[in-house]
Amino acid sequence: MIAARLISRVVSCVRPVMPGLADFISALEQRRRVRKFLSQGFRRVNLCCGLQRVPGYIGLDVLPRVDVEIDLSRENLPFGDGSMETIVWMSAINYFSHGRAQELVHEIFRVLQADGVCRVGVQDMRWLAERYVNEDREFFFQTLPSGQDRFEGKTIGDKFAAWFYGYAVGANHCRYAYDFDSLANLFQTAGFRRVERKALGESRIPDIQFLDNRPDQMFYLEAVK
Ligand SMILES: C[S@@+](CC[C@H](N)C(=O)[O-])C[C@H]1O[C@@H](n2cnc3c(N)ncnc32)[C@H](O)[C@@H]1O
Repeated sequence: MIAARLISRVVSCVRPVMPGLADFISALEQRRRVRKFLSQGFRRVNLCCGLQRVPGYIGLDVLPRVDVEIDLSRENLPFGDGSMETIVWMSAINYFSHGRAQELVHEIFRVLQADGVCRVGVQDMRWLAERYVNEDREFFFQTLPSGQDRFEGKTIGDKFAAWFYGYAVGANHCRYAYDFDSLANLFQTAGFRRVERKALGESRIPDIQFLDNRPDQMFYLEAVK
């Protein structure tokens, strides 16, 4: 872990002056870490895991200090064809353009084994739009225990728009919004044989309670290869 932190720091210092060298070092480190997890028998992936660590899952994110650091806006999944049994992607597919999201769903199809399952949770555009049109102040103006606003933006309009353009994590922010049909279309296009809407905690994946979150904003889709 200390070595990984050191490499991450070296890469961020080198990147501004020698971006090619920084990419080369990160690619070597990424390959080393993937090999380590595969050799330990890991076959589940948590895409865009953020700070969340889920036992049994390899966490991928652009943030440092995750299991495998990767910028999914330009890099494909670092796994072989048919090598994974489960891929989850919570509250993050909306951080990619629609075109890149479709490419990543094709990637998920490639790396899943036959009968492998992908579960995506994402903010529900229809549900949020209904609340916006109905001016649901109780929902939009929730506060956290610290007293801070739960949702970013000053007005209901700003708060609604933040799910399309806001919620920046470093250089990345929301870039698209989905309802069930538009998300299902990405998976059908990629060739998944079953694409289903699921309730919170309802899943083919064991221990899904560690992964499902934000049930008041998100819907869940499960796709079987
Ligand atoms: C709203 S957070 C969700 C984190 C976690 N999955 C959860 O459910 O709490 C979105 C995550 O997507 C990650 N992300 C955004 N753009 C990314 C990219 N280009 N490559 C990899 N991860 C990215 C962010 O770093 C962040 O951790």
